Order: sequence, then structure tokens, then C-alpha cells
Amino acid sequence: MHTILSKKSLSPNVTRLDVRAPRIAQIRRPGQFVIVRSQKGHERIPLTIADSDAACGTIALVVQAVGKTTRELVALGVGDVIRDVSGPLGNPTELLESGRALCVGGGVGTAVVHPIAKALRESGVSVSSVIGGRAKEWVIFADELRRCGEVVVCTDDGSDGRRGFVTDAVREMLEAGGVDIVYAVGPVPMMRAVAELTRPLGVRTIVSLNPVMVDGTGMCGGCRVDVGGEMKFACVEGPEFDGHQVDFDLLADRLKTYHEFERRVDACADGKCLIRR
Ligand code: NAD
Ligand code: FES
Repeated sequence: MHTILSKKSLSPNVTRLDVRAPRIAQIRRPGQFVIVRSQKGHERIPLTIADSDAACGTIALVVQAVGKTTRELVALGVGDVIRDVSGPLGNPTELLESGRALCVGGGVGTAVVHPIAKALRESGVSVSSVIGGRAKEWVIFADELRRCGEVVVCTDDGSDGRRGFVTDAVREMLEAGGVDIVYAVGPVPMMRAVAELTRPLGVRTIVSLNPVMVDGTGMCGGCRVDVGGEMKFACVEGPEFDGHQVDFDLLADRLKTYHEFERRVDACADGKCLIRR
């Protein structure tokens, strides 16, 4: 049982939950994630560990409420318990040892970039971040990332920072030179666009993939992705991969697989059941 010790709304559909999980807080490394099940029999949800405090025994989970299960999770309050938190899962981030890293976060993906930027900064690497959201209220983790280095905020409507997608600012920073590696996490089209900017420049680009996951242990095959023409399981061989090798078309296609089913489940929750029996 894992007690929720604090809860904070970060954007209109993104919530931060600081949860008691002492063992995970001690051993987790940037890039790793947990699988959470709020109650017995409920759906399992993979969530990035956005931060941790080993002394307090807590981990920070960032949840985007997009379906029935994630809405139920963010409806929990301080003092409530999450039944299962399994992890840390996945491979830790390949961290640059010296030089300059550019961290790119799109929407809720910015929470995934934060522990990477923090670890790089702690090891003495120079960190710049470009983060984006649809509008000011959708930009998350800006203050935390400013503690790691320079931050450029981008919003689609120009309500905070510069107007436009993160890729506009990334292009300019790459053209200015001096970037040794890029870490990009966000929507699939964003990660693909960043990888296409860095490819001709030969700048190593790490992306964090978010395929559907079930067990998180390499047994179900739900999270399979194509990287460099080989099938990989994101839960045990990722979730981070070389962005220049990822088949983003296949990833986008597989992410759509359950959309219709989720729409039906949501309709049921609203009292308009569409599931054929
Ligand atoms: P969003 O759709 O609001 O986009 C956030 C920002 O990403 C935009 O403001 C823009 O700057 C950039 N962006 C979006 N589309 C782009 C494009 N075509 N080209 C260049 N830049 C683009 O983001 P959201 O609603 O927060 O959704 C985040 C997505 O990230 C979800 O689809 C979620 O599944 C995914 N995600 C990925 C991971 C991961 O590990 N890869 C983790 C969490 C979430
Ligand atoms: Fe089942 Fe990765 S989630 S194999």
C-alpha cells in the first residue's frame, strides 16, 4: 500500500502525486518508470518517476487524465492509498558524461525530461531545455527545469514564452551549434520532428517511447516497437531508444489500436454504454 502524501494540479489534465514508496525512491534512476494499480482488479498504468526524495521515501508520479483509469487515479486525495506500485522498471537513461545536453519536453512529456535534466546537471553537464504546451496553463515543470539550466518555453498560442512548437526553438539552438546530445520526450509527432532535425547534423537523439504496456516485464508483447528494423520491448529494452532508429509510423499506428475501445469504456462511464455484448 502506497499513501499519497501530496497532490498538485500541474495543468488542466495533468496531476502530480507524491507517493510513499521508500524502496523505489532509493534505487530508481532517471528514465525509469513504475506500473501502478490503484485497486485490486483495476487496469495497470505505466507512469514515469518524475522525481524522488530518498530521505522522505517518496516518488513523484505525473498522471495525464485521459481515460477512465487515469481519471480514477487522479480522483484520489492526500491520505488515500494506491494498492500496487511496481518498479523501478525499464533501463536508466544513457547520460552524457561531459559537454552540453539539450532536453526537449512536449506537454506531459516534460515530466519525463525533468529527472534526466536534473541528473545531468548534478553530474556537471551543461543543460538547456526547450519545453512546450498548447498554452500557458499547459506548460509544466518550468521552475524545476530552470534549476538545471536555461529554459526556453514555447506555447502554440504564444500565451507564454515564444509562440510555436518546441521544434522552432530546437532548430535555432541546433543551428547555433555546441549541442552534444538531445533528449526528447512528448507526443510522437514531436519526437519524430526533433529526430529529423538532428539526423542531418549527426547529433545523438534519445527519445522515450510510450507504447501500450500491460505487464511491464517483457512477457505480454504489448509494448513492442521497431528500432533499427528489430522488434524491441519498450518495457525491458527501453523505454528510451535512439530516435534516429525508431519507426515512429508503427508506434503511432499501434497507439491508435485501443482508441475506439477506450471511447466505448468512457461512454459507459458516462452512462451511454456503447460496448456490444
Ligand atoms: P500536446 O499534444 O499538447 O503537445 C505538447 C507540445 O509538443 C506542443 O505544444 C508542441 O510544442 C509540441 N508538439 C506537438 N506536436 C508537434 C509536432 N507535430 N511537431 C513539433 N512539435 C510538436 O501534448 P500532450 O497533450 O501533453 O500530450 C503529450 C503526449 O506525449 C501524449 O500523446 C502522451 O502519450 C505522450 N507521452 C509520451 C511519453 C513518453 O515517454 N514518450 C510520456 C508521457 C506522455
Ligand atoms: Fe508486456 Fe512490455 S508491457 S512486454
